[in-house]
Amino acid sequence: MLDIGTGSGAIAIAICKKTKKNINVLASDISPQALNVARKNIATHKLLSRVTIVRSNLLANIDKVPHIIVANLPYVKEKNARGLADPKLALVGGKNGYELIFNLLEQIKEKKYDKKTRVVFLEIGHNQARVIKKYATVLFPKAKITSKNDLAGYNRLITIEY
Ligand SMILES: C[S@@+](CC[C@H](N)C(=O)[O-])C[C@H]1O[C@@H](n2cnc3c(N)ncnc32)[C@H](O)[C@@H]1O
Repeated sequence: MLDIGTGSGAIAIAICKKTKKNINVLASDISPQALNVARKNIATHKLLSRVTIVRSNLLANIDKVPHIIVANLPYVKEKNARGLADPKLALVGGKNGYELIFNLLEQIKEKKYDKKTRVVFLEIGHNQARVIKKYATVLFPKAKITSKNDLAGYNRLITIEY
């Protein structure tokens, strides 16, 4: 499994803890500072044998095709970033918020991961499901693309199954 934009490693760690030992995770991030935090957290949970850390701008340094991709990438709009506590790099996805997610989908298509990767899970902003599903449908017309609500009732998870 590939966790893109792993940040503190929370998703990578939770998935290792909740699944059988046969899932190995590549945890990637563009930020070396984030990867240092992820490394510490992964070590604390004794998961260094299952989680490999790699610095990468989206898929740029990812060579192996993952079976599963998960990504909670930045999705906040540029103009809504002011006053937020986290660094801009962790939150802002572009002018409209969803540009980085679009870039990831384009790279999945370019690298032909859709031929081997089975499923992609994307956390998205509460009002982005329609536009992201539409774009994913254009790129991957044969895929099954669905979305799910979070506990507050907002559409926050997109699943793309190839
Ligand atoms: C919203 S945080 C999510 C962190 C973690 N996945 C979580 O769910 O708690 C987004 C993360 O994406 C990373 N990021 C931003 N741009 C990126 C890029 N182009 N490629 C890879 N990671 C990126 C940020 O450094 C940040 O750690």
